Amino acid sequence: MSESQSARRGRIGSPVSRPTSWWLKTLKQRAESMYEDEEKLPPAEFASDAERLACISFFTAALRAEESGSSQAKQLAAAMREIDPDLAECLELYGAEENWHRGLIVDFLRDIGADVQPLGGLTGFFYRTYAKARHLPTIMLSNLMFEVIGSTTYRIALGRVQQPAVRKMLTILARDESFHVPLNVHFIREVLRHKQPSTLGRAKLRAIYYAVFGALIASSAASREVAQRFDHISFRELSTAYVENLGRLFLKEPDLAFEPPWALLRLFGIDRARLQSGDDWVTSVAAAEAAAVRENVRVTAL
Ligand SMILES: [Fe+2]
Ligand SMILES: [Fe+2]
Repeated sequence: MSESQSARRGRIGSPVSRPTSWWLKTLKQRAESMYEDEEKLPPAEFASDAERLACISFFTAALRAEESGSSQAKQLAAAMREIDPDLAECLELYGAEENWHRGLIVDFLRDIGADVQPLGGLTGFFYRTYAKARHLPTIMLSNLMFEVIGSTTYRIALGRVQQPAVRKMLTILARDESFHVPLNVHFIREVLRHKQPSTLGRAKLRAIYYAVFGALIASSAASREVAQRFDHISFRELSTAYVENLGRLFLKEPDLAFEPPWALLRLFGIDRARLQSGDDWVTSVAAAEAAAVRENVRVTAL
């Protein structure tokens, strides 16, 4: 019986977690294979300039998410260094993965003739607000939710997009984000343990949780206006996937104490039974273990 099987034995239905030392060891191993995919991508070809521009919009939004992830990870690592040096090192290595993604996207955008501009509209406002956040649990919670959204978007797009260059980018990103989601569950759990919020602090965090949840659903509408011609994902489909994956994450991690917003979920025809019965690829430690070694990951589209 493997180490992971024996750790899970007899724990039917209970969450399995891994200590920070496991995440640190795994992140160090991942750092060694990080640049292996950095061969030249084949040139991307588009059916029309409108499709090329929509592709630029899609990856510009992805670039902002990667930039934001890497800079917030750096900030969190600095804040945690005195309290938990191993966790701080995990945050640094995680930030380095996001920074690597950022570089891959910058090169790809340059190759397809993009002039990267500051992000406007709702999504731009969102990132500017988030960049000003200083409260560690707020940053961690928002980052975890962004990871779920990123992972969901990349995986659905992978099922639609045909160009080999774009598929390669999406595969790298989707593969790594599937590891980042459970990693971020570990981060928020540890940050909440070290910086236990007061009752008022908890209430504020819950308010932020609902606000970010709603804003992410709204952002799926905004992104459809500019990126749908490239990724062919409808608003209904993308927003439902966001609601479902976010809802499932928090339902399956009950110790985090963020209840899915059931009224909102009902609008999308999603109930508790559907969340409970669904595949928990996004958060489980089994999912993290399956995604830990890059060479072994088989990325599937949603
Ligand atoms: Fe990333
Ligand atoms: Fe990520």
